Formats: sequence, C-alpha cells, structure tokens
Amino acid sequence: MSVVALDVAAVRARFSALDRPTAFFDGPGGTQTPDEVIEAMASYLRESNANLGGPFETSRRSDALVVSAHHAAARFLGCGAEEVGFGQNMTTLNFMLTRTLGRELRAGDEIVVTRLDHDGNISPWLELAHDLDLVVRFADLREEDATLDLDDLERQLTGRTRVVAFPWASNAVGTIADARRVADLAHQAGALAWADAVHYAPHRPVDVREAGVDVLLCSPYKFCGPHLGLFYARRELLERWRPYKVRPAPDEPLGARLETGTLPHEALAGFLAAVRYLDSLGWDAIMAHERELGERFLAGLPAGLRLHGLPTMEGRTPTFALSVSGRTPQEASERLAELDVAAWWGDYYAVEVMRRLGLREGALRVGIVHYNTAEEVDRLLEALAVL
Ligand SMILES: Cc1ncc(COP(=O)(O)O)c(C=O)c1O
Repeated sequence: MSVVALDVAAVRARFSALDRPTAFFDGPGGTQTPDEVIEAMASYLRESNANLGGPFETSRRSDALVVSAHHAAARFLGCGAEEVGFGQNMTTLNFMLTRTLGRELRAGDEIVVTRLDHDGNISPWLELAHDLDLVVRFADLREEDATLDLDDLERQLTGRTRVVAFPWASNAVGTIADARRVADLAHQAGALAWADAVHYAPHRPVDVREAGVDVLLCSPYKFCGPHLGLFYARRELLERWRPYKVRPAPDEPLGARLETGTLPHEALAGFLAAVRYLDSLGWDAIMAHERELGERFLAGLPAGLRLHGLPTMEGRTPTFALSVSGRTPQEASERLAELDVAAWWGDYYAVEVMRRLGLREGALRVGIVHYNTAEEVDRLLEALAVL
C-alpha cells in the first residue's frame, strides 16, 4: 500500500512558530506548537475556564474537556480511558508512580534500569532504592551502535526483579528498543515492564497492549502539544495500588486518582488539539517523511563528523548524536545557532549514555521531526560542513 506523502508546506502553514528563518532541529527537547493547539488553549481560558463539578456552564464544559482528554489519551496509547492520567511532565509523574509502586516493594527487591535511559527513568528508581533499600541493576548498551544489550538485560534479571524500566527510544542517540521483547523478558522474570516513551511517541504510534508494557510515560510537548505529562498504567495495577491522594478527590476514573490537585485544563485542551493534529497527518505519512529526511541527513553527513549510534534509519528515530572534530559539542551548537540552526549539545539528561560512550562533554544532537523539510536538512548539512 502506498503512503500518501506528507505535504510539508501545508503542515508548516499550520505553525506560525515556523514562519521564521530558524531551522528547528531541537525537536527531541520539545517541538514547536501548531496554531490550532495554541488556539484551543486560549479558547479554553477565554470561554470555559473553571474548576470541575459545578452546575454552571464553564464548569460543565471543563468536566467534559477532562473526560474527552482522557479518552483521546486512551486512543493515543491504545488502552482504556480509566488507565491514563495527566501530570506536570514525565519526570514528575514517574516520581509519583514509582513512589506509589514502592508501597508494595520490600527491602532487597530489585529494579533493572538501562544505560540507554534518560535520567527521568533512572533517578526515580535510585531515590526509591535509597528509601526502601532496593537494589538497582543497570542493563548495558552496546558501545558499537548504542543499542540496548538484551543479553545483558537478561543477565540482570533475578528472582527478586520487580521492575524492568527501559526507554522505548533514546532521546540521546535515537535507538529504538524492542519493547515487546523487553516486556516479555520482564514478565518471564515476574517483573513489570515500565516504558519511557517520551522520545518514541513523537515518531511512531504507541500501542501499549501490542507492546505488552505495564506502565508507560510520555510528554505531549514533544509531539506538538503543550507542556504536560501523560501516563498509562495497566488497570489491575491501578486497582491494586494505593495512590497518594487527598481524601475528597474522586476515586473514578482509576488513573485520575494519581492526578493530584487541579489539572492544567488549558493544557488538556491543547493536548486534544495536538492529537487531532497528528491524526490529520497520519502516522504512515509522518514516518515515511521522517525516514526520508533521516536518510538524506545520513547520506550527506560531512567527513570530520562522528555519528554515535545506528548508521542507517533501521531501528532508530531521526535523532542523531554527533561529535565534531576540532570543536566541542557546545562550540558546534553555538556556531549552528549563529547560522540560525537550532540543535542541542550536552547529555540532555541521558547521562548514562554519554558515560558509556565516553563522551565527557556530551554530543551535538540533531533531531528531525515531521515538520522539517529537505531544504532544512541540506542547510544543516552545509552548516555542519563548515563548522
Ligand atoms: C526520553 C526522555 N525521557 C524522559 C524525559 C523527561 O521528560 P519531561 O521533561 O516530560 O519530564 C525526556 C525529556 O527530554 C526524554 O527525552
């Protein structure tokens, strides 16, 4: 079946933010926001702003919005609406979820994390281990291509493993992990599969049932939504867990029991609009376009640059970690900024990845997303050639 090509000019016309000379390759740190998302947030604040549960119009609209946002999140992740919840961001939600799970863990229980992870899926476990005397084991990555070492992951599993926390995709090097395989290994060991999908969700459709994961987190601001976090937790876990919640807050839907206090309703309105926006493009078109741009980038990579990670678009997102000979990553990023090309440098909180790859100053990160163009990639390549 042929995929309808993405009309990038039409896509970009939906973003006032892209109507400027800057070429944005900073997507893995957060994408630009389409006008329809901004408008949804503004119109919520203008027309529907209220707290929940009141008999008046604005409150009724807010009630309806929160329900719709949970349903949209469930569709986005492939689960039930009672299995999702929103929060400030992935990191805050993960501290909350790990702490909640911690109520059923015992001293000596073990958690496996990976060296491919962003620290948002490592530090919450280290802190929990500190409080509860848990053991945290690290599954390695393969140095030659920065892929997850599944054999080593398997070696870390013991009879005491309670959780395998892993990144579905790496925000540092773009590697995609085989979530189904990791989840199967975790389950065979009697452990939960705890996926960080923050970097995966902007690039591929998520289906938590197909992946077989028990908990998953992502951040809508990485896929054209507002600053917000989103989690999925399997229904049986939510039924079993005792969440940290205030007594008067409702017990239904289940996932909402982990949403402490009043949610950012305007961000939920923005999230709904972002999901509609992505639906309107279609994942096949997004993936085909990103792959094409990724291949163009890899084919044109100038000499003098070293790529850390997979050398083709197979098994990866179009996020590339580079070392530039004769320049620190910071200098390279600053020079690109002078040329109006936005790209990050550093470790982007993927500290274990950088340590493992021996990159003391981190790397230069180029992140392509669906609204980038072939011309922008060419501009980037020209800029990299003269760094
Ligand atoms: C892979 C990955 N995990 C977790 C996070 C943390 O997300 P948040 O900023 O929503 O806490 C990020 C943010 O860059 C990320 O890229």
